[in-house]
Amino acid sequence: TDRAYVIDEMISAKAIAARIEALCREISKEFSDTDKLVVVGLLRGSFVFIADLVRELDLPIEVDFLEASSYGNAMESSREVRILKDLRSPIEGRDVLVVEDIVDTGHTLNHVIRLLQSRQPKRLKSIALLDKPSRREVDFRSDWIGFEIPDEFVVGYGIDFAQRNRNLPYIGKVRFVEN
Ligand code: PRP
Ligand code: MN
Ligand code: MG
Repeated sequence: TDRAYVIDEMISAKAIAARIEALCREISKEFSDTDKLVVVGLLRGSFVFIADLVRELDLPIEVDFLEASSYGNAMESSREVRILKDLRSPIEGRDVLVVEDIVDTGHTLNHVIRLLQSRQPKRLKSIALLDKPSRREVDFRSDWIGFEIPDEFVVGYGIDFAQRNRNLPYIGKVRFVEN
């Protein structure tokens, strides 16, 4: 987009870090008996979150990535999810945690969870940093959620607006301005 916008801070880096600490205590407890947890990041939006998350997990882990078809530069979901890059390793019989930055319509994470479930993991859970329940189009809820947010256009901490602003250390809200 060429429209000018400013970014207002919505969730601070400090608040995110505190929430991740609390979530990781719960996750470490849930998987305390695991031999190894496969932590799966959904590219690209989850790359910052997964990096902070795995460093707070008190568990033996492995990291893998999966890329589902993207909104690209569009602001609307295509609703049809395809796998662009699959996991490197099989997950049958494994403990798996899927890490996502945001659940909006729910199509992406819902599709990925169904796909991975069909590979018969031992346990399969998901975590999303942000959840916009008011936008949901499929009946899906992540096992852990960092923050529930209203229907605002958010960026930062991995989340992009037309591929920009992923490197902001906090979650911001896009506000369009006249130029
Ligand atoms: C965004 C976001 C989630 C998904 C959520 O990814 O990172 O993966 O959309 O939307 P949904 O719940 O409506 O499916 P995007 O497709 O923009 O790719 P990206 O992660 O590479 O930015
Ligand atoms: Mn994404
Ligand atoms: Mg995106």
